[in-house]
Amino acid sequence: MRPVIMPIYGTRPEAIKMAPIVKALEASDLFDSKVVVTGQHREMLDQVNEIFEIEPDMDLNIMRPNQSLNGVMTRTIDGLDAIFREEKPAAVIVQGDTTTSTAGAIAAFYHGIPVVHAEAGLRSFNILSPFPEEANRKMTSQITSLHLAPTSVSKQNLLTENTNGDDIVVTGNTVIDALLTTVDKQLPFSDPQLEELAASGRRVLLVTTHRRENQGGAMEGVGRALARIAKAEPDVTIVLPAHKNPVVREAVLPALEGLENIIVTEPLAYGEFTRMLSISNIVLTDSGGVQEEAPSLGKPVLVMRENTERPEAVSAGTVVLIGTDEERIYNEVAALLHDEEHYAAMANAVNPYGDGRAAERTVAAIAQLLGVGERIDEFDQ
Ligand code: UD1
Ligand code: UDP
Repeated sequence: MRPVIMPIYGTRPEAIKMAPIVKALEASDLFDSKVVVTGQHREMLDQVNEIFEIEPDMDLNIMRPNQSLNGVMTRTIDGLDAIFREEKPAAVIVQGDTTTSTAGAIAAFYHGIPVVHAEAGLRSFNILSPFPEEANRKMTSQITSLHLAPTSVSKQNLLTENTNGDDIVVTGNTVIDALLTTVDKQLPFSDPQLEELAASGRRVLLVTTHRRENQGGAMEGVGRALARIAKAEPDVTIVLPAHKNPVVREAVLPALEGLENIIVTEPLAYGEFTRMLSISNIVLTDSGGVQEEAPSLGKPVLVMRENTERPEAVSAGTVVLIGTDEERIYNEVAALLHDEEHYAAMANAVNPYGDGRAAERTVAAIAQLLGVGERIDEFDQ
């Protein structure tokens, strides 16, 4: 019988980053895989599984309106407890820093099941920002058997914390695998407004926001900054695919009403979002995944955060941390729109986060962990 590997995930970004791993496990004849989703996100998770044609084997369906972190944690651990007793996986794989991810790691650890952590070693060095992700990923690292670090920077963070170097593999981030297999398809937009925009050649500012620490006053300021940009720059179109979280919508959307050059959409299917990224001129975001994808497409990224656990693209000059101050957001966008030299300096395609082979390296590293294969060459940016 082949060992069973159990990918566990629950939110949109985990689903996107886990999809290449699920596919690579399916293609491997060394393992069987059983996919468990927690459903921490419902619509946004299902949207990703659909586009990658993944049908989860088990679904804990835990999402609640206005859910609490403790609710997500306890419902996940409780649901996985029963699954592990039944399925007895040889290893689980969790991704990143969500509460699903840490709950999955804890539940497996308590069953004596080895934890494989994809996207290991990212650190902002501020336990309260991003909240609760910095704490989540540090907790997961403590109980992980195999750390899949996306870059040498994240490997070094783990070594600094005295993680055994033999347990770390630099794989690159699977988000680049997902991006590269999707963006070239240039899938049609289901919203005709976006298809018209693509055909118009107008300049596009693509915006996403959802971070917990930005919710409330800071996000209201983001809304006001976008309204100011829209009024001052009539030849630019702002596209905002709104996160499903009602708290986010209530803070950002009121300021945008009635402005013709702002298009607010539902979350875009991954293929549509990557196409929108590819036709955008500037990206304004507080997302982790978007910070990794946009540099690969040569798009300048303004990050609405005070710090980042993803310093590689900042060093490469394509990402700038600008915080959430309304005036600063307005000025930074205006500078990119009007200063060609400044724009050109930031619009370099760089690939510090991966080369599209992270899932392949992940499967090889799991094979080595379980004694049925060898690791392959690491990602070297
Ligand atoms: C979660 C992760 C965050 C990640 C983000 C990606 C934690 C603590 N946070 O934050 O790390 O960056 O996902 O987007 O794990 N909702 C829906 N439908 C959906 C998704 C969300 O209705 O498809 C609503 C629900 O009311 C839910 C709320 O959004 O209660 C918040 O969702 P939650 O997963 O708790 O937090 P996020 O801010 O999405
Ligand atoms: N994304 C998407 N549709 C959208 C907005 C984002 O598919 O409308 C993708 C994006 O390409 C990236 C991921 O969602 O891969 C990022 O998710 P999110 O910003 O919700 O979470 P984070 O990365 O901050 O944890």
